[in-house]
Amino acid sequence: MEAELEKLLTEARAEIARAVGVPELAALRIRLLGRKEGSLTLLMRRLGEVAAEDRPRIGQLANRVKNEISTLFEQREQALGESAARAPAPGIDVTLPGRERAQGTKHLITRTLDEIVDIFVRMGFREELGPDIEDDWHNFTALNFKPDHPARDAWAGFYLEHGWLLRSHTSPVQIRVMESRPPPVRIVAPGRCYRPDPFDASHSPVFHQVEGLYVDEGVSMAHLKGTLDAFCREFFGPGIKTRLQPSYFPFTEPSAELAASCVICGGTGCSTCKNTGWVELLGCGMVHPNVLRNVGYDPDRYTGYAFGFGVERFAMIKHRIDDIRVFFENDIRFLRQFP
Ligand code: DAH
Repeated sequence: MEAELEKLLTEARAEIARAVGVPELAALRIRLLGRKEGSLTLLMRRLGEVAAEDRPRIGQLANRVKNEISTLFEQREQALGESAARAPAPGIDVTLPGRERAQGTKHLITRTLDEIVDIFVRMGFREELGPDIEDDWHNFTALNFKPDHPARDAWAGFYLEHGWLLRSHTSPVQIRVMESRPPPVRIVAPGRCYRPDPFDASHSPVFHQVEGLYVDEGVSMAHLKGTLDAFCREFFGPGIKTRLQPSYFPFTEPSAELAASCVICGGTGCSTCKNTGWVELLGCGMVHPNVLRNVGYDPDRYTGYAFGFGVERFAMIKHRIDDIRVFFENDIRFLRQFP
């Protein structure tokens, strides 16, 4: 009897392990443990034939065999259930190619801004931000715009209530920074600007600028030129040449425009540079003494330079883009070209 029980257990182990489906397992359970005709039940019925002193031992063995077989059934059932859950549902074609999940990337303007700020930060400038909504003082008056300056006209700005306006350039950040702390200051201020311009190939009512300002004792035009030249070589490539040409801005004196050798034709003349070999890149100059006075800096002790430029224009020149609207239309075919 003992041997028969051991044999039953050995066979049960093998058969349970071989079972490949839940229905097959259920049938096996009935065959082995069924109450009427199960193999173990039939064996137990013969317990009466065993000598009385052996009965407790055999009874215990039979219980152990029963428990172990039950456990084996449970484990096998669970294993079969899990692999059934992993198997593809009927009707799903696992050979079909997967569906690609679109992965976003930084917009070219964001990337260009990051790149520009990064170069200036490496040169010792600190990034500063200002508000998109400005008042007349910061956007105009403190920057030495006279009361009748045409930039103040209603059609030259997006005006809100109480004289507030959407800033038309990033230059007001110069004022905010200088008002908030004493010299020296050396900052770059990237940000969005607004002007009621038509939306055409070269204008957008919303655009981005980067402003730069360095004020300390002894800052000169030579520092300005050297810094901008180094920046341009870093941003556009080492082959670029720059030059300053005279200009006018209310907040700088003298004022200049920085031009660069045309990156498209290399200076030989093309439609981008209108056959001059030079493209205008940005406005700059030495901070006007009135501006320094307006923020409480002593113009007899401190001098500074400032510059400001359009980020879209820089990105367009660098990547040879001929229409500013592509930055705002978010056509995925354009965005994909700058992963
Ligand atoms: N704020 C000027 C503009 O929007 C750009 C500019 C010119 C900024 C000269 C400056 C500067 O800081 O010195 O056209």
